[in-house]
Amino acid sequence: MAKNIDWSSLGFGYVQADYRYVSKYKDGKWDEGGLVTDANITLNECACVFQYAQTCFEGLKAYHTVDGRVVCFRPDLNAARMKETCERLEMPPFPEERFVEAVKMLVKANEDMVPPYGTGASLYIRPFMIGTNSVIGVKPAVEFEFRMFCTPVGPYFKGGAKPISIKVSDFDRAAPRGTGHIKAGLNYAMSLHPIVVAHEEGFAENMYLDPETRTKVEETGGANFMFVTKDGTFVTPKSDSILPSITRRSLMVVAEKYLGMKVEHREVLFSEVPDFAECGLCGTAAVISPVGHIYDHGKDIYFPSGMEEMGPWTKKLYETLTGIQMGRIEAPEGWVVEVA
Ligand code: PLP
Ligand code: COI
Repeated sequence: MAKNIDWSSLGFGYVQADYRYVSKYKDGKWDEGGLVTDANITLNECACVFQYAQTCFEGLKAYHTVDGRVVCFRPDLNAARMKETCERLEMPPFPEERFVEAVKMLVKANEDMVPPYGTGASLYIRPFMIGTNSVIGVKPAVEFEFRMFCTPVGPYFKGGAKPISIKVSDFDRAAPRGTGHIKAGLNYAMSLHPIVVAHEEGFAENMYLDPETRTKVEETGGANFMFVTKDGTFVTPKSDSILPSITRRSLMVVAEKYLGMKVEHREVLFSEVPDFAECGLCGTAAVISPVGHIYDHGKDIYFPSGMEEMGPWTKKLYETLTGIQMGRIEAPEGWVVEVA
């Protein structure tokens, strides 16, 4: 039975579910883990997560399909990316098969929180890991907690599928070169001031440029960029300091194999941006959120697709991606995993 929630009016917020998954690492190994009901964590004040931000996270979604199944989209890739993140942060990776099993356990236990098909909402799953023992010299923890909770969510940006306005950030997000593959709290903490400034100025997000030359497009605070050229080529920035978005990697396949588009994954100069026909943000939370306007220090870039609707290619990409995720369109092998 679905909970008594007004699914269609959900924003991107936290609604506490009944169960979460927890496993603890001590003496060099992960315990057997399991579901718990307590949403709170009690830790020593000197825990490594508090002092040196030894923490990382992932994000994925569960959906009701058109034929009533509950599925996740490519959870194996979240498990693999979290392993890479952990390796960079001196944290013990949580075994990848166990990660996917934990997703299944969590979603089954909270099935009443999976929004019904057609509401536009989904169940957002947030796996994360923290260093839990006390550490005062700068060194990694030796005890860790892996936890996964879920919350039903609606659109990440207010206004749903309406194009958003973003700005070229005045700040660097400080994701050091070569660490773009990690999804760690510290990188996000560095984006909190820029996002507050952007919101105060009326923009939905920041476009970060490469910190070294400020000439190349990187990503936003929570999503990768995708562009479409006037002749229908799908272009998406390549950089080793952005997160390798699972949505973006999937869209490259959708664009080429399902829509017959030419696909370019390459450095994108900011100076090219005014020539693109369409622009969007892609990610688990953002899905594909169209961008209609980019403000750059006194100059405006408006895309021909306008501020009212998604551009035609963006719409096709959106319909195909969400069609695959919700079982309306046949998925490539292994992309859609039944979880409840
Ligand atoms: N870039 C950043 C900074 C993100 O936080 C996210 C969200 O996870 C993404 C990109 C999109 O990645 P994915 O499609 O794997 O959700
Ligand atoms: C996601 O899309 O899963 C993200 O992590 C984006 C944001 C909520 C941080």
